[in-house]
Amino acid sequence: MKPIELHVEKLTATLGAEIQGADFTAPMGPDLEKAIREALLEHQVLFFRDQDLSPEQHKTVGRCFGELHVHPVLPSRKDEGHPEIVVLESSPKAPFVAEVWHSDVTFERKPPRGSVLRGVIIPDQGGDTVFASMTAAYEALSDSMQRFLSSLEAEHDGGVFRQLADDAQRAELAKDQTTTHPAIRTHPETSRKGIYVNSAFTKRFVGMKQSESDALLRFLYAHLSSIEFTCRFRWRTNSMAIWDNRCTQHRVVSDDVRAHRRVERVTIVGDEPF
Ligand SMILES: [Fe+2]
Repeated sequence: MKPIELHVEKLTATLGAEIQGADFTAPMGPDLEKAIREALLEHQVLFFRDQDLSPEQHKTVGRCFGELHVHPVLPSRKDEGHPEIVVLESSPKAPFVAEVWHSDVTFERKPPRGSVLRGVIIPDQGGDTVFASMTAAYEALSDSMQRFLSSLEAEHDGGVFRQLADDAQRAELAKDQTTTHPAIRTHPETSRKGIYVNSAFTKRFVGMKQSESDALLRFLYAHLSSIEFTCRFRWRTNSMAIWDNRCTQHRVVSDDVRAHRRVERVTIVGDEPF
């Protein structure tokens, strides 16, 4: 078999790479799996074009990285036998946008390792996704701030999903969806450290007054979204993004919330942050 030759074009000096030469509609060999896993560790988020995948093929890409996660609340294609495929759809009647910086599902004890997101219905303009490198944001801090933050833990809560949940889901959320994670997380594969608080789910630092915690979080949220730590992806139908949820955050650009946009996400189970 011919060795895999991927063409990798970095989006910025910090993170993100667009990859050509991978076709996920064909069976994936071990060479391609290995190349994609290594590229993701290096670039933190990968982008692909023209991947017209079936639900099974989409799940197969996710499974290169591990077992698939089922979201506690978000709508999915479960009626077609694919509860692992989360559907994020925004339409003129029901705008839905994740417009705050976050990494996914950090309110669980073992937050997801990463996700594979595919563009299904993409408007002519608007709704780009911006990603930020939490390792770059951490490395840009002073030694003193790095040391201080490394001594802290923060509470995360999934309460934002309570409005979307039905009664049974709400009972589950109340029970399980609060957890504590280190404020600085060490990546289990690269050993790089990164900031691990986010404005969607982090409530406060443990052992601090709320006013102290709020001030420090405000500083960190402004810092981690500095444009130098980001890259921005313009979607097309059948574009696909794979990100490492352990060392990045993302948000959508809500410049046209009334456009019809549908993306589908497969998420990979992760481990406990340390
Ligand atoms: Fe997200």
